[in-house]
Amino acid sequence: MKGIILAGGSATRLFPLSKAISKQIMPIYDKPMIYYPLSTLMLAGIREVLVISTPRDLPMFRELLCGGEQLGMKFEYIIQGKPNGLAEAFILGEKFLNGEDAALVLGDNIFYGQGFSSMLKEASESVAKCGACIFGYFVKDPRAYGVVEFDAAGKVVSLEEKPAEPKSNYAVPGLYFYDNTVCQKARSLKPSTRGELEITDLNRLYLEEQSLKVALFGRGFAWLDTGNADSMLDASNFVETIQKRQGFYISCIEEIAWRNRWISTQQLQALGESLNKTDYGMYLLELCK
Ligand code: TTP
Repeated sequence: MKGIILAGGSATRLFPLSKAISKQIMPIYDKPMIYYPLSTLMLAGIREVLVISTPRDLPMFRELLCGGEQLGMKFEYIIQGKPNGLAEAFILGEKFLNGEDAALVLGDNIFYGQGFSSMLKEASESVAKCGACIFGYFVKDPRAYGVVEFDAAGKVVSLEEKPAEPKSNYAVPGLYFYDNTVCQKARSLKPSTRGELEITDLNRLYLEEQSLKVALFGRGFAWLDTGNADSMLDASNFVETIQKRQGFYISCIEEIAWRNRWISTQQLQALGESLNKTDYGMYLLELCK
């Protein structure tokens, strides 16, 4: 399975912050925002990742993440000329995926909670059998999201994008696992009334084929999306609180690469030393002891 991070978009809700730089390069507490979705893919065991962003912003992601060797990974980069919708990731990424299954994560989505790694492993393994696996998360107001409706037996009955009157409180987070028919399905989509290739339409194709699984995150789990100033601040405070309390870093990509045995302790040590005596660098050096 290969991974895609969608880190383009126009980030209009963050103007003037995002007028000259990418939202996904901005800090969530002590790391660039993109570290969080990247760590999600890494926890799913995915080593090959395509970063999709705008012509303006892609060079900055390349400078930040390079080729991925430093993490025992491989990164590729591709431009999305216009924010034509989330499902376009699979048209732009078709060559990169080269017939493999795919995980897509949005560049401004943060996931954190116990049992996440095993849920990710289950999701990535399940697509070979069931076609697609997406998630559901109970939120107070789901109107800004894709919304999934279940029947009494827990079976998915509908998916709607940003409904004015949601049929449930279950929003669909920006993390999706698909089998290798996803590119062909994405190519068959028509733009919605807002002119985007909608991920909800793509998911509906799997639903119609009865090959869509929806796994639920429980109420002890944190899913944050960081599309406006308030939610960025909330997410930063959340990360700071947990990190200071426990002393473990959230979404430390170097740590995950090392725990996945994609890099050696010597490599981790060198990464720690390259960050000088910053708290982040010292944390990496501490892991090597
Ligand atoms: P959104 O939050 O829906 O859009 P946006 O980031 O452009 O922000 P705003 O609503 O403030 O204008 O996008 C979710 C994520 O997906 C975000 O990380 C940007 C990314 N994205 C793309 O990369 N390409 C796209 O075509 C779209 C629609 C979003």
